[in-house]
Amino acid sequence: MEFANSEEYRSRIKQILITEDQIKAELKKAGEIINAAYDGSPILLVSILKGAYVFLADLSRQVTVPCEIGFMAAKSYFEDTNSSGKVQITMDLTQDISRYHVFIIEDIIDTGRTLNELLKILSVRNPLSLQVITLLDKPDRRIVDLKADYSLFTIPDYFVIGYGLDYGEYYRNLPYIAEFEN
Ligand code: IMP
Ligand code: MG
Repeated sequence: MEFANSEEYRSRIKQILITEDQIKAELKKAGEIINAAYDGSPILLVSILKGAYVFLADLSRQVTVPCEIGFMAAKSYFEDTNSSGKVQITMDLTQDISRYHVFIIEDIIDTGRTLNELLKILSVRNPLSLQVITLLDKPDRRIVDLKADYSLFTIPDYFVIGYGLDYGEYYRNLPYIAEFEN
């Protein structure tokens, strides 16, 4: 992916859907969900790279109970029309999650297929509990029956960029969430 110049780069940001202030307000509430889960056992916030890195950084700073951070990366292979597929973990957690209440911190749930497979992989490791917090939910596109335990924003079927989400690896660093001009 290449842009002719910075004008072209900026012109593909079609419209801002969710502002920095709106995100900030919702982060507080999501942080409280994590704080409320603390019962003396450690909490592990797991981010699936790369899309959730900004959300994890901001959300984790709303957490006031003992928590650790973990990262995973995965590659998925799906037949186009098939809901089940293979997910290969390319980077794994270092923690033994049977000691933790685990929160998966996601950028967006779209078809839900990748997260569905990851949840299966993580649940056989017997965490004390396993919950999903997603920044964005695009329910119109769902292929597998999967619902986050907590979702900050529900959006229509737009391709979105910013606040961690990319188009061709660009725009992750935008401080807001915008619709991408195709
Ligand atoms: P799925 O839920 O298995 O379809 O995969 C969701 C992943 O696709 C997300 O974690 C994103 O990396 C990517 N994705 C889905 N929708 C968008 C979008 O609108 N913008 C940018 N990335 C997206
Ligand atoms: Mg992702």
